[in-house]
Amino acid sequence: MMTTAQTVLLLVVVLIASTDFHQSVTESDSTLQYTADAQLKLPDHYREWVYLTAGFDMSYSPNAMEMGHHMFDNVFVNPEAYRVFIATGTWPDKTTFVLEGRRAEGKGSINQKGNYQGAVMGIEVHVKDEKRFPGKWAFFGFGDAKSAKLIPTTAACYSCHESHAAVDTTFVQFYPTLLPIAKSKGTVAAAYQKEIGTPAQN
Ligand code: HEC
Repeated sequence: MMTTAQTVLLLVVVLIASTDFHQSVTESDSTLQYTADAQLKLPDHYREWVYLTAGFDMSYSPNAMEMGHHMFDNVFVNPEAYRVFIATGTWPDKTTFVLEGRRAEGKGSINQKGNYQGAVMGIEVHVKDEKRFPGKWAFFGFGDAKSAKLIPTTAACYSCHESHAAVDTTFVQFYPTLLPIAKSKGTVAAAYQKEIGTPAQN
């Protein structure tokens, strides 16, 4: 038979355990999840992650195709990785970036000039999963589906990010709050420094 004190203690333990459980559910929201056939699941709550930039009509070729409309892209990173980057200037294992393309709109409500963001046109994800991918990082492109196949490592995504991105295949040179941190921690890639004409560190 349990005494009243023992019953109360048991209740307290159960309560604490269930609170912990809820916390771990929220925390694990930004860990990577794959389907049985190795597709990456789209992180549900990436919109609550850390916002890094909004690019507008960015294009990587001088004679890029005209799309007939303007585009924004928003970049988000999972909060755990962001905190590590702030402290070290490097991305930890399981870092996840989401690049969300949105169609630019001009006329709507009271807006007369300039552009605001409309519908999602596409979502791309860049993840660091060191055990899973030989090159550590991998790219995924999402259409309307909630999961996506790995983009083959022969795709231009890998070579452009590898040769032109400022930190560990990520375009930190375009993320204004992060570039000063990478510079102060000395983690800017030598190839990028050469590209912009500053002498490499060391
Ligand atoms: C010619 C160069 C180039 C190619 C090819 C390219 N990207 Fe990028 N990517 C960029 C640039 C520049 C940015 C920064 C965008 C910004 O500042 O808004 C970027 C940013 C990203 C990001 C945000 C995280 C990060 O790594 O900085 C993702 C995700 C991404 N690209 C996915 C892809 C995918 C998927 C492909 C292939 C289908 C691809 N990219 C091909 C240049 C490229």
